[in-house]
Amino acid sequence: MAPIDPHSFTDSTHPLTTHVSLSFYFDFSTSTIASSALLTLCQPHTGDLLIDTRSLTITSVIDPTNNTQLPFSLSPQVDPIKGQPLTVALTNSSKILITFVTSPSSSALQWLTPPQTFNKKLPFVYTQCQSIHARSIFPCQDTPTSRVRYNAKLNIPHQLSAVMSARHVERRAPLTTGGDSGLACDESLWCAEGRVVEEFVMEQPIPPYLFAFAVGEIGCREVGPRTKVFAESVPSVLDAAAKEFAGTEDMIRVGEKLFGDYDWERFDLLVLPPSFPYGGMENPRMVFLTPTVIKGDASGAQVVAHELAHSWTGNLITNKTNDHFWLNEGFTTYAERRIVEAVQGEDIAALNIGIGWKGLVDEMERFKDNMEFTKLLTNQEGVDPDDVYSQVPYEKGFQFLWRIERQIGRAAFDEFLKKYIAAFKFQSIDTHMFLDFLRANVPGIENDVDLKTWIEGTGIPSDAMEPVSNIYSKIVSLAHEFKQGRMPSEEEVASWHGQEWELYLENLPKSVEASQVTALDRRYRLSESGDYEVKVAFLQLAIGSRCSEYYNVVEKTLKEVGRMKYLRPLYTALVQGKEEEKIFAQRVFSEARETYHPIAQGVVESILSKHL
Ligand code: BES
Ligand code: ZN
Repeated sequence: MAPIDPHSFTDSTHPLTTHVSLSFYFDFSTSTIASSALLTLCQPHTGDLLIDTRSLTITSVIDPTNNTQLPFSLSPQVDPIKGQPLTVALTNSSKILITFVTSPSSSALQWLTPPQTFNKKLPFVYTQCQSIHARSIFPCQDTPTSRVRYNAKLNIPHQLSAVMSARHVERRAPLTTGGDSGLACDESLWCAEGRVVEEFVMEQPIPPYLFAFAVGEIGCREVGPRTKVFAESVPSVLDAAAKEFAGTEDMIRVGEKLFGDYDWERFDLLVLPPSFPYGGMENPRMVFLTPTVIKGDASGAQVVAHELAHSWTGNLITNKTNDHFWLNEGFTTYAERRIVEAVQGEDIAALNIGIGWKGLVDEMERFKDNMEFTKLLTNQEGVDPDDVYSQVPYEKGFQFLWRIERQIGRAAFDEFLKKYIAAFKFQSIDTHMFLDFLRANVPGIENDVDLKTWIEGTGIPSDAMEPVSNIYSKIVSLAHEFKQGRMPSEEEVASWHGQEWELYLENLPKSVEASQVTALDRRYRLSESGDYEVKVAFLQLAIGSRCSEYYNVVEKTLKEVGRMKYLRPLYTALVQGKEEEKIFAQRVFSEARETYHPIAQGVVESILSKHL
């Protein structure tokens, strides 16, 4: 008996689930889902089986083959990270039907009231399961070691529609016969007037963190042969999204050329409300995106390139546990930049590498008292993955792969990547499996690249490097000159877009004279930028320089977006300030809290609690 993942109760001696059949009855009046989950194990089991749950109320556990109750217990102790294990006693059985109700505080779900939506008329709910939140929607072995196929019936009010990271089968009336409800709730509720059922099936096996749905007033536009963009049904939002993502099919083709066939059939996009806590989430067949990527200048393509790249690295080949998270994000960051380079050119790719480099350097400062999280291979026992989320797996992982590419040359590295993906697709692997494959396919690599230092060492290895590019060097040296009081001229910034400004701002010192901040903004209007990357980088500088005239913009920003990439640095800069800033941070959070996704609420709470 031993756990197979520091973030799951799943035991090494227990069979894994291969299929789940889900029925969900959405109750917007209570922000709960009355549900059932029929789990099928890869082989019959006798004895206790441990299943992950968080804030679920279990109403019954049944063996569906003979309709008998199965003995079960939900641990009264709640692990603050892993939740509550559900123990079910089995006698030579491989099927378990669990009925349960989710909690309004389910950590994966954000329930938006009608006033919190764009149209203000109807409610909206969506999921974010990575890394360990699927268990707050349904009982499961919530470890990426497991891969499941599933089908799902979503019973919703007829004014709404549902989307999933799965194939849509049909939208239909609830059936009164054939056990349509799957025991999720009473037949009378399931079949009540005004309800419809949306059915989905996922034929490709996925780790539980890739489970995803959204329910609301959702519309769509077609943008390519295998791509539609979905969003709240507002013509202006849908039009802007369709324009922003028009180049998606070109990127899929580049990905296929570099990494092999696209194995997920559809590549749809869903633009979520502004509270979505990430830039993007690689839910298979339907990527979830923050609306902040729609900037009107096609730059959202970088986030789409990243989530698309996960179709190969992350979704086809998955990290076994979060200790190996760099296998997902490091490979994907490398793959993203290859796609960006192919469609937008080397200079833009170099800018992205440079922004990433600065991010990596800054993380070394953040983790200076906890160097464990500057390693690629981490030990996350007792650690909440949301608390240690950082650029390290992305950028150090990228640097490692880029280092190997430099060693063996691009052609050989491309061939290696294709072979790696073909060898492990639809599998969950760990760092050692990757290293074994690398050594077997690139003989002698360990003599040229210090694999041990890269994987197990802390900090940034000495053979990591900044990008070589004229624009990159120019912008970084302009940022250094700002310290001496020189502002870039109109001519120098004439061709800059969001990413150039982002790189420039990120390379400025954390705090400068307040008068320099206002002078820069008077000239270039950065606090008014429609590009949140630029605006937030500027506001961070403003807070660091205690330029209080921008605090109203800071407050407005913290109240209009819930993307953690923006919340984290702004709240962190505030709590690192004087008493006044801390009180301000607390007040804004108490007013904005309800509008954030539960994951973002938790992350901001932990930032505030560390400093107050
Ligand atoms: N898979 C991540 C998002 C994630 C990571 C969610 C860990 C939960 C836990 C996604 O692919 C991602 O990296 N998104 C980035 C996009 C960026 C690198 C272009 C983001 O959200 O900023
Ligand atoms: Zn990613």
